[in-house]
Amino acid sequence: MDESQEEFAIRVRDLVVGFGRQTVLDHLSLDVRRGEILGLVGASGGGKSVLMRTIIGLIPRQGGSIDVMGQPIGGRKEGAAMTWGILFQQGALFSSLTVRQNVQFPLRENLVLSQELMDEIAIAKLEMVGLRAQDADKYPSELSGGMTKRVALARALALDPPILFLDEPTSGLDPIAAGDFDALIGTLQKTLGLTVFMVTHDLASLTTVCDRVAALADGKIVAIGPMRELLQSEHPWVRAYFHGKRSQMLQHEMR
Ligand SMILES: Nc1ncnc2c1ncn2[C@@H]1O[C@H](COP(=O)(O)OP(=O)(O)OP(=O)(O)O)[C@@H](O)[C@H]1O
Ligand SMILES: [Mg+2]
Repeated sequence: MDESQEEFAIRVRDLVVGFGRQTVLDHLSLDVRRGEILGLVGASGGGKSVLMRTIIGLIPRQGGSIDVMGQPIGGRKEGAAMTWGILFQQGALFSSLTVRQNVQFPLRENLVLSQELMDEIAIAKLEMVGLRAQDADKYPSELSGGMTKRVALARALALDPPILFLDEPTSGLDPIAAGDFDALIGTLQKTLGLTVFMVTHDLASLTTVCDRVAALADGKIVAIGPMRELLQSEHPWVRAYFHGKRSQMLQHEMR
């Protein structure tokens, strides 16, 4: 492996993605460093979820290249589940499966393990995300919003992937639950050495848990760096996002 492959978990170059006559991503380039938590902000409908889904191969691209852990992505499905875990924006659990069965789902799909071992893994993963063994036999309808996110996270991490994709993981949670979830992501990133790619609108998440923040506008990454650098950005959309009336009000209240 050369140096660049070791440094970057994800490298996106000149990515073009569209639907019909609509171009969503327009020659977008982005590097995600190994071991970092990268936050992604952008207008609603701007293409954040499309970018994530294209990186993991769910949406075809019209142009450009994507490397993940030094390997080009191109219709190659084998090993994908071993490389990344995903918390989708509409990250539903399977409602007819228990918490335990949800967490075991990727294990069943990808490995041949004894029931005993799968049970051990499920409990260990649930404890890792701050849930208790007693929660394992609950059904998704019996969980709170915060617990649901944690189960989805345990499922995403079931196969110990080095990369974690999160699409608005704290939306819909109250500020305390959201803060707890951010802290959990920070802890997991440190203890497991995860690379985390997180789409979020949550200013608190961007400020407290992200190493760097990337801004998506007009189909491109228009600014990327630590939050304090983004706050200095001259790009009109980035300025409007962080210094517009609404975020000013929030930042004022945060002081
Ligand atoms: N499968 C699809 N087929 C057609 N158009 C799509 C598809 N997926 C996304 N789009 C379009 O791509 C654009 C970007 O959508 P995307 O979901 O990436 O936005 P987003 O930045 O994640 O927004 P939000 O912050 O609201 O989640 C939208 O115009 C959307 O309608
Ligand atoms: Mg989205």
